[in-house]
Amino acid sequence: MAATGPCATLVTDLASQGWTVLPDFLRTDAVAALRDEAENLWAAGRFREAGVGRAAGYAVREDLRGDRIFWLDGDGAPQAQGRFRPEIERLRLDLNRELFLGLVSFEGHYAVYPPGARYEAHRDRFGTSDERAISCTLYLNSGWTARHGGELRLHAAGRHLDIQPRGGTLVLFRSDTVLHEVLPATRPRFSLTGWLRRRPLRPALLSCLLAVLLLAGAPRAARAAERPMSPQETVVLLHGLSRTPRSMRRLETALARSGYRVVSVNYPAGRKPIGAIADVLDARRADRRGAGRARVDFVTHSYGGIVLRYYLETRPFPNLGRVVMLCPPSAGSELADLLRRIPVVRDVAGPVRLTLGTGPGSLPACLGPVHFELGIIAGNRSLNPLFSWIIPGPDDGMVSVERAKVPGMSDFLVVPRTHTFIMRSREVIAQTETFLQTGRFDHAWSPGGVRPTGDIQGGRRG
Ligand code: OGA
Ligand code: MN
Repeated sequence: MAATGPCATLVTDLASQGWTVLPDFLRTDAVAALRDEAENLWAAGRFREAGVGRAAGYAVREDLRGDRIFWLDGDGAPQAQGRFRPEIERLRLDLNRELFLGLVSFEGHYAVYPPGARYEAHRDRFGTSDERAISCTLYLNSGWTARHGGELRLHAAGRHLDIQPRGGTLVLFRSDTVLHEVLPATRPRFSLTGWLRRRPLRPALLSCLLAVLLLAGAPRAARAAERPMSPQETVVLLHGLSRTPRSMRRLETALARSGYRVVSVNYPAGRKPIGAIADVLDARRADRRGAGRARVDFVTHSYGGIVLRYYLETRPFPNLGRVVMLCPPSAGSELADLLRRIPVVRDVAGPVRLTLGTGPGSLPACLGPVHFELGIIAGNRSLNPLFSWIIPGPDDGMVSVERAKVPGMSDFLVVPRTHTFIMRSREVIAQTETFLQTGRFDHAWSPGGVRPTGDIQGGRRG
C-alpha cells in the first residue's frame, strides 16, 4: 500500500526530525471511552507510582517523575484493548512497511499526572539493550487549554517544541534520541503512553539502522512512502475442506491492501485425494512461472495446512517465505476417528475427511516435522457443543488446541475464535501479517479485545 495523507507526513516527519504529532488520532467517542476507563481505574485506586531506571537502578523519584501509572498488559482495561489496540497495531504495521523498523509489539500504560506533577527531561530508552524504538503518547483530556499547562516539551538542537495534551492528540517520537519532559499542569492530566518495541538487536546493527533512518531524511522518506511494496511479494491462500476461496475473502482483501500480491487458490478439497490436489497446485504454480524467484508466503485454513505440509514434503520450494496456519488439524481430529466407526456417517463423510483421524495410519501422522518458518493460530471457542464434548481439552469446535501444534513450528497463538470463522477476525488477520513480517506473533497484547485466560503460548517477550 502506498502511504498517502496523514501516514505519509507521519513517516516523513518521523524519519527526518524524529517526532510527529497527529492531532486527531482517535475519534472523540473512543477518546471519551478511554478517558472514562482511566478515570474509573484512578478513582478505584488502581494506579501505582511510576519509577525511573531499570533493574537494580530502579527507584521511585517523585522529584524527577510525579505521575501514577496503570499497565495495560492485564485484562483490566477492555476499552484500551478494544479501541486503542487495533489502531496502534495498524500504525505499527505501517511503520514497519514504510521504514523497515521491525517493530514487533506494543507495551503501554495509562498515566495520570496530579496537578503540579512533572517528569524531568529524559529519554525513553535505558542504555543500549532496551527494545523501545518509538514512544507513543495519546492524550485523553477534554477541554484542555493553554492555561492548564502540562505541555510535553520536546528538545531538539537547542530549541524546544511544546505540545498541549489535548484529547485525541497522538505524539510519536524516537525513544532513543528525543529528549523530552512533562511540564506541571493545574488539572489532573490523563494519557495513554507506550512504546513500540523491536526485537533486541546487536548494538552495531542498531546504530547502522538508525544511521540509515537519519540519512534517509525527508525527501527520500517521502519517496519511500509513495513506493508500493514490491509487486513480486506473493501470499498464497489455501482454504479448508468443504470451503472455497470465498471463505478467505476478508483475509485476501486485507493482505492486498497491505501491498501483497494475493493468490487465493480454488482447489477441490475433499473431492480428490491429497496427491491429486498437489498436482493441481503444481499446475497453478507452473502458470505463475513469470512471478520469478520472489518470496512466496502461505496462509492456510484448517485442511489447507495439511495440504501444504504434504506439498512441501513432496516438492522443492526454494523461494518459500513464511507460513501461517489457522486451526490446522495437524495431529488429526478425534471427530474423524468417530466418523469412521459409524457406518452411515462413514459413507456421507467422504474419503478425505476419514483420512484426518488421529491414528498411526492417518494422513497427519504420516507428515513429518516442518523445516520452514511456521506460525500457528488455534481457536478455543466452539459453536458445536456436541463436537466439543467429543474432543478432549479446549477446542475450536473441530480441532483441539493441542492437536493444532506441529513439531518444528516457530510460534503458536491461541485466540478466542471458532474453527469456522477464525479467518474473518480482524485480530487474527493482524497477527497473521505480523508473523509474515517478523516471524513471530505479537504476544504482548491479546487479540479480540479480551485476554484469553492464560492460554496464550510463548509468553510475553522482552
Ligand atoms: C513518559 C513520558 C510524556 C507525556 O511517560 O515517558 O515522557 O506527555 N510521557 O505524558
Ligand atoms: Mn518519556
